[in-house]
Order: sequence, then C-alpha cells, then structure tokens
Amino acid sequence: APSARERLFSLHQAVADWWRELLWKAPEGELCRRYLESRAIAREIAETFGMGYAPNRWDGVLRWGAAHGYSVEFLVEAGLVVLGEKARPYDRFRDRLIIPIADEAGRIVGFSGRSVGSEEAAPKYLNSPETPIFSKGRILLGMDRAKRAIAQEGRGILCEGPMDLIRCHAAGFGNVVAVQGTALTEHHARLLRRFAEEVIVCFDADRAGESAAVRGLAILTEAGLDVRVASLPAGEDPDSFLRGGEAAIASFRETLQRAPAYLSHLLDQAARQNDLTHPRGRSQAVQSMAVWLAKIPDPIGREAVVLDVAVRLGVSRSSLEEAIRRTGTTGK
Ligand code: CTP
Ligand code: MN
Ligand code: MN
Ligand code: MN
Ligand code: MN
Repeated sequence: APSARERLFSLHQAVADWWRELLWKAPEGELCRRYLESRAIAREIAETFGMGYAPNRWDGVLRWGAAHGYSVEFLVEAGLVVLGEKARPYDRFRDRLIIPIADEAGRIVGFSGRSVGSEEAAPKYLNSPETPIFSKGRILLGMDRAKRAIAQEGRGILCEGPMDLIRCHAAGFGNVVAVQGTALTEHHARLLRRFAEEVIVCFDADRAGESAAVRGLAILTEAGLDVRVASLPAGEDPDSFLRGGEAAIASFRETLQRAPAYLSHLLDQAARQNDLTHPRGRSQAVQSMAVWLAKIPDPIGREAVVLDVAVRLGVSRSSLEEAIRRTGTTGK
C-alpha cells in the first residue's frame, strides 16, 4: 500500500490536474485567463509551470475530493480544506490563480494561490500551510527546474516569489529559485549550498526587499556561500523588470553580472545612509560595517577587506579594527 506521503503527493498532482483543466477549459476560468493575459504570461509559460484556477466556490475541492475518494480529513491534512466554525470544512483556495509548488524531485507538495480579482482582494497570496510534505522554510520554489543550471554555473539566483521565478525562467535565466516572500532560512541556504558556491540575491527594489536582503546575507554567508547582491531600479521586481522585452533581458543579465559582492553592497549602503564628512556619520558607518566584518570567520580574509573599508569610510585601519574587536563576536 502507498505510504501517507505518497498518497499526499498523488492527491496534490490530481488536484493540480483538475485546477489546470478548469483554467483552460471551464467558462469560469475566463477571468483567470484574462488575468494571465494582463500580466503578459503566455499560455505556454503557464502550462509549463502547471498553473491552474481554483474556482470561486466554498466546496469545490470538497466535492471533487468526495467524487474521487478522498476523505475530508485527508484534504484537511493536505491543507486544501480548512475546518471552520463548528468544524465545518471549506476550500482553502477559492477564486485564485494556482501555482503548484514542487519539491526538488519535481513532485507537487503545495500551492501558491494568487488573487485574480481586484488588488484589494486580501491576502494577495494564499499558500499551502505546513503539512507532512510541505514546509515553507525548507522549500525553494523552482529548485526542481533550476538545480542542474545552478550546479553547472556554480551559482544560483534567489528572488522573492513565484512570479519572479517564472518570469526569470521564461526569459532564459534557468538558475533562478525563489523563497515565498522574504523569510529566508538556514535550510534554504544549505539547500543552495549543496548545488553551488555562489548566490546572487535579487529581491524587490523596495524597502521590504532591501531589508530582507540584508537579513538574508547573514544566513547565506554563514552557510558558506559567496554572496552577491543585484539591485534593480527602484520599485521593480524581476517580474516587472523583465516585462520590458529583449532590452530588459539584456539589462537584467548585465545587472547580475555586475552585482557586487555583499560587503561592497553593504559598504555602499553604509556610505549612502551616513554622512561620512562628519565624525558621527563615520562612526555609525564604522559600527555597522564592523558587525559584518566580525562575521568573517577567516582572519586573513577579514584583513584583506578591512583596509578597503577603512579607506572608503575615511577612518584609520586601527580604529576599524578596534570597532570589530568591540563587537565581541569575531569569527562567529
Ligand atoms: N507573499 C505572501 N502573502 C502575501 C504577500 C506576499 O505569501 N500576502 C509572498 C508571495 O510568495 C510573494 C512574495 O511574498 O510572491 C513577494 O511579495 P510581493 O513582492 O508583494 O509579491 P510579488 O511576488 O511581486 O507578486 P505579484 O507580482 O503577483 O504582486
Ligand atoms: Mn516584494
Ligand atoms: Mn515583488
Ligand atoms: Mn509588490
Ligand atoms: Mn511582482
């Protein structure tokens, strides 16, 4: 008999197939088809990624499940059905564009559902909850498609969400994977490290994306990855940017090629955020860089960058070294 996990994989595949049919064949999929058009996602791309449409019904999966021999308890365990008040079950995904989430082996383990109505329809994304086969903190979206390219190039590119991932792949960037939002974990970092030595973080060029990138840097470098940071023009994400056609694709490629190493990105940031013509500004910039420099485990590697940083911030090497010592975390 198939194991519980195998039964969950097969349920996910079956419901994905059903949702895909609804997207392309059902009249009620029309709104969602138009949504894809409005985002310039060609049918071929949507099909490649197995997209579907979850209808606007409270009992869509419930009825489909009953007709296909799945118990309500099992649908709940899979996160497809939610138990509401008085344990009354209802569909989790309603009136949403469905993007299947695959594990490294390409098995569907969860779903991302994007609202297709007005932007007000909240939340914008609804995702599978933690289940026996899905954990948001462990899955990197797109790893099944990207792992070969990542291993071949020795480098992965990390973005924020499924739409960025899909647009990047459609534009020929085969080594892109994504988190779900901005919560990068050690598991994600170690997973990347299994395939490559280097990662380029390419988050949204907005406040959330920038601060998430900085938080992510510590996690990624601690996993032993060489980290670079690509910065898109303000307000863009990889999906919006790459909609600009061939010119945008060339410019994206160049942005990746030129992406600075993380320390140099942080140094630029520190120089931008502080007034280096004043002692107070220099001191704040020194404090912020000292924290990062202290994390470099190899003293020789650290020494090699300390002088550059000191020169750029306009302070002496010894005062920067003193600030690093004062963080009290050298090598950790
Ligand atoms: N996210 C989420 N729930 C939300 C908002 C965001 O899970 N309410 C996750 C999604 O995985 C999303 C990612 O965070 O892809 C990044 O958020 P954001 O940049 O706002 O969305 P986009 O990926 O740009 O999605 P879209 O282009 O469809 O607006
Ligand atoms: Mn974002
Ligand atoms: Mn975005
Ligand atoms: Mn956004
Ligand atoms: Mn977007």
